[in-house]
Amino acid sequence: MENSDQYKILVTGGAGFIGSNLCEYFLGLDHKVICLDNFSTGHRHNLKNFIENPNFKLIEGDIRNIADCALAVEGVDYVLHQAALGSVPRSINDPITSNEVNVSGFLNMLVASRDAKIKRFVYAASSSTYGDSEGLPKVEEVIGKPLSPYAITKYVNELYAEIFSRTYGLETIGLRYFNVFGRKQDPNGAYAAVIPKFVMQFMNYESPVINGDGNYSRDFTYIDNVIQMNKLAITNQNPDSINTVYNTAFGDRNTLNDLVGYLKKYLTEYDPKIADVEVIYGASRAGDIPHSLASINKAKKMLGYNPKYSLQEGLKEAVKWYWDNLK
Ligand SMILES: NC(=O)c1ccc[n+]([C@@H]2O[C@H](COP(=O)([O-])OP(=O)(O)OC[C@H]3O[C@@H](n4cnc5c(N)ncnc54)[C@H](O)[C@@H]3O)[C@@H](O)[C@H]2O)c1
Repeated sequence: MENSDQYKILVTGGAGFIGSNLCEYFLGLDHKVICLDNFSTGHRHNLKNFIENPNFKLIEGDIRNIADCALAVEGVDYVLHQAALGSVPRSINDPITSNEVNVSGFLNMLVASRDAKIKRFVYAASSSTYGDSEGLPKVEEVIGKPLSPYAITKYVNELYAEIFSRTYGLETIGLRYFNVFGRKQDPNGAYAAVIPKFVMQFMNYESPVINGDGNYSRDFTYIDNVIQMNKLAITNQNPDSINTVYNTAFGDRNTLNDLVGYLKKYLTEYDPKIADVEVIYGASRAGDIPHSLASINKAKKMLGYNPKYSLQEGLKEAVKWYWDNLK
């Protein structure tokens, strides 16, 4: 991919949090973008900034349906596959649906991409693949046993991608996302991620509940760092950089208690009363790993990754967005 060329990029799950940000970013670079989404967890309002853009096309369809996948990949250069059912608890409550979407749907997208002879298939993998491995920081080559049905589905994605590279010559890159946050992440629903959920609760003077004692830590990753990784994954032309997986993170870890402290501090700048909202501590959650921290050396070396946003820098942006858009 040269910067001056116009490409056709398919973003599956393009109405979701990460997918809609990817659509917007690549449309901003004047590429043609197709979004395939069934709106199961995504939203039409995530598309509002670009739905009228003539370079954008929405296909309402399901990755569990191979015909929808085949239609969506027609004439496409690059696939950024984001569609999946996220959330560890969701997969524990309903492993069958998570498997159908995350594994069978993924396989459908690989087959359709192979048949359409696309240039490269870049997909959302997950830090959950590290499972019960205890070493920190996490390096791509050392994983443990999966701790949830969701983690299994994301690991199976990597196994299938590798086989499609080897067997059919399909270029693939997996991006193991670590706790992504930022604008447009859904604060609502039983499976909402912790940052948007806590932001909304603070804004409504409701006490957020931390599962466990708050000392669990995560490598919280701002959306713009994730966009940078997706861009690098489709622009990199070094054959040694493809058909592999990369940690997609900032490369630092913060505890849940740190996170809540920052959120309170930044939100208090908008509304001083938020300083009085207390945090509640609840039981630990099944399938949660205690600590997570990525080594980003491989992405730096092989892709030239240089993340710009730390947790604190990203949170300032995210809090502003939630305040301006959802307050
Ligand atoms: N957000 C994170 O921290 C994180 C971390 C690791 C991995 N991931 C992965 O990144 C990807 C995007 O996650 P997100 O946070 O943007 O989630 P999201 O729920 O906001 O987006 C997922 C999108 O996929 C769509 N989708 C779901 N099932 C579909 C189906 N059967 N057919 C077509 N579309 C379907 C949804 O409607 C939604 O728009 C997922 O693959 C997720 O597993 C996310």
